[in-house]
Amino acid sequence: MTTATAQAAPNIAFIKYWGDRDASLRIPANGSISMNLDGLYTRTQVKFEPELESDRLQVNQQEIKGPGLARVISLLDWVRLRSGRNTPALVISENNFPMGAGIASSASAFAALALAASAAARLELTEHELSRLARMGSGSACRSIPGGFVEWLPGEDDLSSYAVSFAPPDHWDLVDCVAIISQEHKKTGSTEGHFLANTSPLQAARVADAPRRLEICRQAVLRRDFEALAWIIEQDCNLMHAVMLTSNPQLLYWQPGTLSVMHAMQLWRRQNLPVCYTIDAGPNVHVICERWAVNTIVSHLEAVPGVTRVLVAGPGGPARLEL
Ligand code: DP6
Repeated sequence: MTTATAQAAPNIAFIKYWGDRDASLRIPANGSISMNLDGLYTRTQVKFEPELESDRLQVNQQEIKGPGLARVISLLDWVRLRSGRNTPALVISENNFPMGAGIASSASAFAALALAASAAARLELTEHELSRLARMGSGSACRSIPGGFVEWLPGEDDLSSYAVSFAPPDHWDLVDCVAIISQEHKKTGSTEGHFLANTSPLQAARVADAPRRLEICRQAVLRRDFEALAWIIEQDCNLMHAVMLTSNPQLLYWQPGTLSVMHAMQLWRRQNLPVCYTIDAGPNVHVICERWAVNTIVSHLEAVPGVTRVLVAGPGGPARLEL
């Protein structure tokens, strides 16, 4: 087989990855925890073709060159090295969710690429090895290889830094309601942002406290304790944005609509709705809730000024090959 197709879901981090210990290998400064997002996916086909002059990449029917292609080539190079081949590849990738919608497409994209490329090259990799390979393309992609609720064990080198599932998707019917504030492309992407983390005097304290937050988050998920989960998710998100806001140069991802959602949520919580927010490197707000509250929350969100659209996703499965 020189062709393979794989699908992977994006994920939303409850405990965030921000800053690297080793940027070239994407060894993170701290561990992180996330939930895969069901129903959203990147589908990628990799075809090793001797007739090609060099690697080619198409995303959503558009030919990609420059840094996007270079990032894909370095992952393909690793697969070629391990499988002892030097054939160029054609990579065709599609997302079923809007790009730049506040859902990191790099996580699902590099997880699907790692799985499709290794299968097309007939490498039989374990889940840990696949997670490490996906990590080379994008840190958060290592968390989109296993299914459900996932923890990225930070490790200290390539071998020890990978993600594992600690609860399956059906363990807890949590929902991520993504309130889309803007679909504009962000000015500073995550890769650049990770480099700036250490310019904030708060990053060292954030990293030192990460094991405590990871433990609380893991236990809250295992016990399905929404109150404990909500508290730690928001604290972790606020710590990351405190680092961003105090970096040099400053990273301010929030927009007025972002704050409108955060304020509105304080009111909903007083009405006993189980909700909490988390925000990545962009203005959109991921509102996490339990399934029974989803309809109320979506209609509340749609009424907040600045919210243009709401996407809804429950816990998703692992990356998988299409047979
Ligand atoms: C804020 O994994 O997108 O979403 O490795 O450079 O691709 P690269 O960075 P990426 O960073 C994710 C940052 C985050 C938090 C998270 O998902 O943990």
